[in-house]
Amino acid sequence: MSNERIRTGIVGCGVVATAYYLPYLMDMEAVEITAVCDLNPRRAAECKRLFAAERAFTDYYEMLDGVELDAVFILTGPGTHARFALEAVSRGKHVLLQKPMATSLEDAHAITNAVREAGVVALIEPSSGTVLDPDFREMKRLVDSGALGDPYWFCHIPLGPDHYHPALSGNPYGVGTFYSAESGGMVFDYPYGPTQIVSLLGDCKSVSGMAKVSVPDRSVVPDSVYDEYLERATDPHATNYWDVVVKAPRTRKVTMEAPDNAFSVYEMANGALGVYHVGRLFHPMPKGGAIGGGLEIYGTEGNLIMGRTVHAASIVSARKELLPSVDEDGWHHIPKRGDYSKAKWPQPVPGAFTYYHESTAHFVDCIRENRDPIPNVEWGRHITEMMYGVLESSRTGRRYDMTTTITGLAEGRERK
Ligand SMILES: NC(=O)c1ccc[n+]([C@@H]2O[C@H](COP(=O)([O-])OP(=O)(O)OC[C@H]3O[C@@H](n4cnc5c(N)ncnc54)[C@H](O)[C@@H]3O)[C@@H](O)[C@H]2O)c1
Repeated sequence: MSNERIRTGIVGCGVVATAYYLPYLMDMEAVEITAVCDLNPRRAAECKRLFAAERAFTDYYEMLDGVELDAVFILTGPGTHARFALEAVSRGKHVLLQKPMATSLEDAHAITNAVREAGVVALIEPSSGTVLDPDFREMKRLVDSGALGDPYWFCHIPLGPDHYHPALSGNPYGVGTFYSAESGGMVFDYPYGPTQIVSLLGDCKSVSGMAKVSVPDRSVVPDSVYDEYLERATDPHATNYWDVVVKAPRTRKVTMEAPDNAFSVYEMANGALGVYHVGRLFHPMPKGGAIGGGLEIYGTEGNLIMGRTVHAASIVSARKELLPSVDEDGWHHIPKRGDYSKAKWPQPVPGAFTYYHESTAHFVDCIRENRDPIPNVEWGRHITEMMYGVLESSRTGRRYDMTTTITGLAEGRERK
C-alpha cells in the first residue's frame, strides 16, 4: 500500500473504543478516522466530536456503503464479530477484530477462509500474551531454551490478590456485550488464558471442560451513565470510562445467559496437561498473599510463574546457566514493562507494552508492508477452538479433540 493515510472506520463506540483505540488512532500520522459507527446515536455522535471523525453512522452496512475505507476496527460485542468481519472482508477491507474472533468454530473457519481468499490483513485480538509483547518474547525464549526442561503441567486459575478488581464480579456494564446468550459468556470474554498457554507451549491437542451459569442474577451500571459520561467529556485523551464505571452504582438487574464458571483441562501437543478456569470473584483476596494467580508452568528442570503486580514472570531452573540473572533464591525475574489493563495514551511508562496500541501499530505496519500479523486468523481460530471446545466438551460430556493448529488444520482430523 502507498504512504497515503489509512482510511479507517470504527464500529462500536463503547468502552474499549474510547478508552484505548480512538485516542491512539487520532494521534497516528498513518491513519485517519474516516467514520465511527454505533447503534446508539449518542455514542456515535460523541465519538465523532471527541475524536474528530469525519462521519458518524448508526448502521454498519451504511457506513461501509457510505464512505471509502481501507480498514475497519470491529469493537462491538462478540455476537456481531463474525458477521461484521465477513462483510468487511468481502468488500476487501483490512480488519482488526476484537476478541473473541468468533463464538463458534464454524464462524472462525469462515473468517479464516474469507481472509485468505481476499488477501486482506486481519489481526485478531488480543495481542497481549503473544510474542508481540516483549515480556512474552523473553518468557518464550527461556522456555524454548530448555530452562523448564520438559514443561509437563500448568495451571491458570486467576484468583491471586492482584486479580481482584471492583468489577470482577462481572463486567460492570455491557448487557448485550458480556451477558447475552450470543456473547458466549465468560469463556469467550477470556481468550487471554488460552493465548498465553499457546504462546508458551504451542498447539493444543484436546480439551475437556465443564461450564455452567452459576450466578444468573447480577447487576450492572445502566448504559445511560456511559452516554452521559461521553457527552460531558472534552479531552479525547481522558476518556477511560473504566475508571468511572467501577465506582458507579450497579442499579440495573441483568441475567447472565451464558456460562460464568468454566473449567478446562487442556492437553497440549507437546504432552503437557493443564487446567484453566474462567469466572469472577465477588470478594477480594488477602493482600500480600501468593504472587501467582497467572499462568504457572511446571517442568522437569524448572518452574515459570506469571504474576502481574511486581514481575511479568519469575523463573527458577536447575540449569542456572540458561537464566540471565538470578536472585538469592535462584529465581530470575522478568520485569513488568507494560500495564495493559490501564493502557492509556500517551503511555504513562515510556516504552511500556500496551495491548491496544501495540496491536494498532502492528496492524498498520502489516497493512503498509503487506505482512501477516503475528496474531493472525489461523492463530485466532486455534484460540477460538480452545474456547469452543470447552463448551462442546461440557455439552457432550466427552473430550473434545482439536481440529486446528496454530498454523492451519490438524492432520488426520476431520475439519468441522
Ligand atoms: N472493555 C474492555 O476493557 C475490553 C478489553 C478488551 C477487549 N474488549 C472487547 O471489545 C469489545 C467491546 O467491548 P466494550 O467493553 O467496548 O463493550 P461496550 O458494550 O462498551 O461497547 C460495545 C458497543 O457496540 C455497540 N453495538 C452493539 N451492536 C452494534 C451493532 N450491531 N452496530 C453498531 N454498534 C453496535 C454498542 O452500542 C456499544 O456501544 C468486546 O468484544 C470485548 O470483548 C473489551
